[in-house]
Amino acid sequence: MSLISKAAKEHILSRKELVEVLSGGFDDELFSAADEVRREFVGDEIHLRALIEFSNACARGCLYCGLRAGNRKLERYSLEGGEILDFTRKAVSEGYKTVVLQSGEGVYPNSKLVNVVCEIKKLGVDVTLSAGEKTFEEYALLKEAGADRYLLRIETTDRGLYKRLHPPVGELASHTEPGPRRGHPDMPFENRVRCLKDIRELGYEVGTGSLVGLPEQTLESLADDLLFFKELDADMIGIGPFIPNPDTPLGSAEGGSFTLALRMMSLTRLLLPDINIPATTAMETLEPNGRLIALQSGANVVMPNVTGDDYRRKYEIYPNKVSAGGNIREQIAAIGRRVADTVGKSKRFISRKA
Ligand code: 5AD
Repeated sequence: MSLISKAAKEHILSRKELVEVLSGGFDDELFSAADEVRREFVGDEIHLRALIEFSNACARGCLYCGLRAGNRKLERYSLEGGEILDFTRKAVSEGYKTVVLQSGEGVYPNSKLVNVVCEIKKLGVDVTLSAGEKTFEEYALLKEAGADRYLLRIETTDRGLYKRLHPPVGELASHTEPGPRRGHPDMPFENRVRCLKDIRELGYEVGTGSLVGLPEQTLESLADDLLFFKELDADMIGIGPFIPNPDTPLGSAEGGSFTLALRMMSLTRLLLPDINIPATTAMETLEPNGRLIALQSGANVVMPNVTGDDYRRKYEIYPNKVSAGGNIREQIAAIGRRVADTVGKSKRFISRKA
């Protein structure tokens, strides 16, 4: 039996086997097996999530990200609750069943976000949050307010690399931009793992994921990322290639490849067959039709940006970030799939609860 058929059947591979698949050589078999497993476990429906980038203010110093506190070129904004609700109402009227509220980290007040979540829940849609590391209490308050899911990518499980990419905020503050800073003064790997455990314990659907093609990232460490997803028993996994942003310290780094990111995504589908996997914006940014290719290699979710052009331009995590064009529904129909009209909770989550 080939490695790929083994993974498609047993949903586990060893670290060594994962590295072998990640090295290439199995691509056609891998991508079509992931498409097959996706069809068998989560079906042909694609879930659309309305992405609202509600604040680009950030207290963190992640070396790869354009929103990092040290980037003075970025004009910062934070939406008021009313404005977030306006975008949400528009999305609901267009048929979206889930909104994803995403922001930088450690600046937007949690209490304000709690109020927004309460209001959105009255509209009858699911709420996914992607607002970084918080305390257990903060996550608990958001859950009580009605939030359904939380996305927090681990970014990389390589401890050394993680440490180099996430310098302590105190250090950053002393030689770059001052500004409001809250939360954990440092950004250790252990705190991120703690956050994911808290999120799980509180009953959220748990989303994580990683960046592919970071400087000095190895195939072994990518294999470890996959094993981490499996061990965490995640409900959603978002994977994208690293795209260098010239306004960050990694501006002249090489950047990730579309194909390697796609291999990671397809392997994720084989290992965690019944979860939700988005075709990420970074994939579409790097490769024309990248999103459709991803949807045919294991993905079942798309997150179109509904924030409006003015804000979208300022939410520049990396350059030339695309949004799902207005014709995403037609594109989905053209590949023989259909847009779901349910909230699309992760099947993994539902069967774990049952
Ligand atoms: N290229 C691609 N993705 C990035 N992210 C941050 N910076 C970059 C970049 N330069 C991703 C991180 C984060 C998500 C919101 O955006 O994985 O979790």
